[in-house]
Amino acid sequence: MPVALVTGGGGGIGAAICARLAASGYSLVVADLDLDAAERVAKECGGTAVRADVADPAGNADMVARALDTHGALDLLVLAAGIQSDVPPDPGVDLARYRRALGVNLDGVVFGVDAALEALERSGGQIVAVASLAALGPEQANPVYALTKAAVVGYVRALSTPLAPRGVRINALCPGFTDTPFLGITGRLLRKQKIPLLSPDEVAAAVEAVAAGAGTGEAWALIPGRPAARHEFPALPPALRADGTEVVLKPFLSAK
Ligand SMILES: NC(=O)c1ccc[n+]([C@@H]2O[C@H](COP(=O)([O-])OP(=O)(O)OC[C@H]3O[C@@H](n4cnc5c(N)ncnc54)[C@H](O)[C@@H]3O)[C@@H](O)[C@H]2O)c1
Repeated sequence: MPVALVTGGGGGIGAAICARLAASGYSLVVADLDLDAAERVAKECGGTAVRADVADPAGNADMVARALDTHGALDLLVLAAGIQSDVPPDPGVDLARYRRALGVNLDGVVFGVDAALEALERSGGQIVAVASLAALGPEQANPVYALTKAAVVGYVRALSTPLAPRGVRINALCPGFTDTPFLGITGRLLRKQKIPLLSPDEVAAAVEAVAAGAGTGEAWALIPGRPAARHEFPALPPALRADGTEVVLKPFLSAK
């Protein structure tokens, strides 16, 4: 049985991902800051619950250790834990909120990958990070949130190259507004304006579809009413030397 670890698995999109993956035959490790919520989901999925704050490297190490102790391997890491930034686009950034948003939404991805990498290398496994449409289009209302999610997409795209020879794939899914407690009062406003929302299960299905593909370093947009679509980033023009000849900019790896 393949083994999946889902961060933020205790609620919303993460819980829907756990349910889908369990139905598809995965053994589940449900990691969440809220242990009661993780235990509820783990009970429903027949999985293992672990309390982890993804902003803390030790929390990430613990959740991976639990997966390996309990199931002996890790095949799929889904990084779904995330929070609203609640940092308004006004002068006077609330430092604590700003740091917490970066801690959960960005450090949670970097530390999660770091903790799981050796195990994923052994299994030829993969990572799906849940970013957001806010990473791909302007999100004027919540720039700090958009910053964290754009950084996740940039990290996924850059990291895919050094991970490829190690046999580990990494992709990002960028869903639009999804009907979970995460939306708070925004959810009520969106519903009032009849703006369609994704269901958590639609997002979970897209995570599963991305995981079933063969690509790496991709960002998939998920827009209500439309199938998930790979986002195409425009190619950069070549650099020009002083003599006018072109140099194609290619990613390069350290010589280590
Ligand atoms: N709901 C949306 O409209 C929407 C849209 C696009 C992307 N997203 C992203 O999808 C992911 C899941 O969002 P959701 O709507 O399910 O949110 P949610 O609030 O319903 O659930 C998030 C879960 O993450 C957990 N969590 C929060 N901080 C954590 C931490 N530090 N460590 C471990 N677990 C933590 C919470 O306890 C909760 O169970 C997030 O990354 C969010 O940014 C959400």
